[in-house]
Amino acid sequence: MIDRYAVIGNPISQSKSPLIHATFAKAMNQDLEYGLVEGPLDGFAAAVREFQRSGGRGMNVTAPFKLQAFKLADEKSEGAQLAGAANALKFEADGRILAENFDGIGLTNDIVRNLGVALAGQRVLVLGAGGAVRGLLLPFLAQTPAELVIANRDAGKAAQLAQQLAAHGKVRGGGYADIGAIRFDIVVNATSASLRAELPPVSPEVFAIGGLAYELAYGRGLTPFLRLAQNAGVKRLADGVGMLVEQAAEAFVWWRGVRPQTRALIDQMTIPLQ
Ligand code: ATR
Repeated sequence: MIDRYAVIGNPISQSKSPLIHATFAKAMNQDLEYGLVEGPLDGFAAAVREFQRSGGRGMNVTAPFKLQAFKLADEKSEGAQLAGAANALKFEADGRILAENFDGIGLTNDIVRNLGVALAGQRVLVLGAGGAVRGLLLPFLAQTPAELVIANRDAGKAAQLAQQLAAHGKVRGGGYADIGAIRFDIVVNATSASLRAELPPVSPEVFAIGGLAYELAYGRGLTPFLRLAQNAGVKRLADGVGMLVEQAAEAFVWWRGVRPQTRALIDQMTIPLQ
């Protein structure tokens, strides 16, 4: 029987994961099938179990199921534990379900390898303190930035996250007004503001000229955040398409034991930020 994989979410028809994994499988000569599962909003666990029973070997998980996927798993990686969320599941032969969260490593690889921007020794600002941010922080801190600052409208949420991470590196969190008069080499917008074409209340003075502004959302062109950065003189702008492909590559390695190339696919999927 052919090995089966799928991405589960709701809605799901917009997902690029089947295209990405089919491209990887072809390039790496892997005989597998990768599909879409629209998980019922009140029946996520049952849908996963059914896919597992029908020969499923693994799943990617997208909104709104990342927290439920984490809870369902029998074994969870450290990154998934800190995030409290999983974006990839692996089904073992004995029926156990393993959970991973590759969003942070995907973003880190995109910034460091694809964009050629080091995180080590740099000042990094992350906007937002929701589920998306929780997955990013451990891989970021592993790169040893000079300082990692988390800013959020709800300052307490950011401060609490920073506190949880204190053992892993130099990190602080608070409100947008607490950022201070510092310029950051890398500013990542991980709020959900861009999904509604809103701008997080960040000052244009946080951007270092010569730095990088990264929008986690993808395929939305110049979002208000990227426009703010551009107007502040930032030349290096990126959206999350590279992160999407890189997190998929990590899942592919985890499932199949071989690492696909990502560059050509990212280029093919990139919509110019104009
Ligand atoms: P996700 O899983 O995408 O992170 P989430 O957990 O609902 O979603 O978190 C949304 C994040 O975007 C939060 O950090 C939220 O800030 P608050 O915690 O202060 O609400 C942030 N956010 C959403 N809209 C925003 C806006 N217009 N400006 C700034 N931050 C915004």
